[in-house]
Amino acid sequence: MNSFYSELTQFLAIPGPVEIHPKVYEAMNRHLYGHRTDQFRKIYVDCEKKFQPTIQTNQPIYFLAGSGSLGLHAAITNMVAKEDKVINLVNGKFGERVEKISQRFSNYSLVLREEYGRAIKPEKVQELLEKNPDTKLVTITHNETSTAVLNPLPEISKIVHDHGALLMADCITSAGGDLVKMDDWKIDFFVSGSQKCYGLPPGLSFVSFSDEAAKRMEEVPRNQDFYSDLLMYREKMSKAPDTPFTPAVSLMYGLQASLDLIHEEGMENRINRHRLMGTVYRSALEELGVELLAEEGYRSNTVTAAIFPNGVDPSKFMTYMKQYGILVTGGQGSLKGKIWRVGHMNLVGPREILTITSVVELALKKAGANIKLGSGVAKILEILNETE
Ligand SMILES: Cc1ncc(COP(=O)(O)O)c(C=O)c1O
Repeated sequence: MNSFYSELTQFLAIPGPVEIHPKVYEAMNRHLYGHRTDQFRKIYVDCEKKFQPTIQTNQPIYFLAGSGSLGLHAAITNMVAKEDKVINLVNGKFGERVEKISQRFSNYSLVLREEYGRAIKPEKVQELLEKNPDTKLVTITHNETSTAVLNPLPEISKIVHDHGALLMADCITSAGGDLVKMDDWKIDFFVSGSQKCYGLPPGLSFVSFSDEAAKRMEEVPRNQDFYSDLLMYREKMSKAPDTPFTPAVSLMYGLQASLDLIHEEGMENRINRHRLMGTVYRSALEELGVELLAEEGYRSNTVTAAIFPNGVDPSKFMTYMKQYGILVTGGQGSLKGKIWRVGHMNLVGPREILTITSVVELALKKAGANIKLGSGVAKILEILNETE
């Protein structure tokens, strides 16, 4: 069959960017306000007020014009001096990104490395911190998108603080879809991004920090970076409020619309929906006999990584997925050709997960898998039938 779908009608089932609500597109299409006007300031402040409950914090939120990595960069440049010891907890590609940033800004950057697909275990963090009591900062990827592992952030945070260090958490694919309690869990530096669970195009990074992190920033020499100098952001915001540089005005319109949609649904309902979609999709794969990469007990609710069964040609699978109008993604680095990943974020509900799973089954079968067509979808229908 020739593909009826084009790039314009592909369904984005990748772990970001995601499908976007029409109200968000509509909001972004509005006439621009000048960014130093009260009209724009009102929008900015409204976004902050509506963003805070999504991560359960009262701290200010900073909306940086850049992708999620800008927030990761800002965390390190603002909190780490050359002589500071940093421990990076790394179990995937995105943990490795923070490791690379840390190595640029600290002469004492250590790594606790875990195999791809395994979660970071609190006992190992404890052990390393006992050996390195002078550690200033620990970094963690809450939801490691490259392997679909959800790391046990609250348990690790407790250990980090018991050892007098601060915690930076990359919540780029957890916040807005899964539970993040910035204040309760004592996340000192929070980072997320627009194109994942917050349902916007790429281009915004969201950051927030604790009072302890702010104190630390005041001690770090301010000659490391200019564009992501968060103390400058804090100072400007405490006055007009203004951003130091031109903000991404249209994306802020979109953010306001998306946050309204999030609150219309209710954050708790949203988290439950993401968790249910994760559960049903994983159950379908297991019913098909497909192995998951992430270890049990630590599986992400917003992205799933599945191992190609024996006999499946990965490139054929990808071609069939596209042919049937669904864009999924493969593995990164050493996982290339071994896994495929599906994002179930933002607008993914029962209708979308059933369609994605049907097409996954068909593409697997056509690419050589020995599966019983329809059995994964039947499993989802069974679970949904039993769910209120
Ligand atoms: C967990 C995680 N961290 C960092 C990033 C990098 O974000 P960006 O590509 O927006 O810079 C991503 C992107 O997929 C991610 O999933």
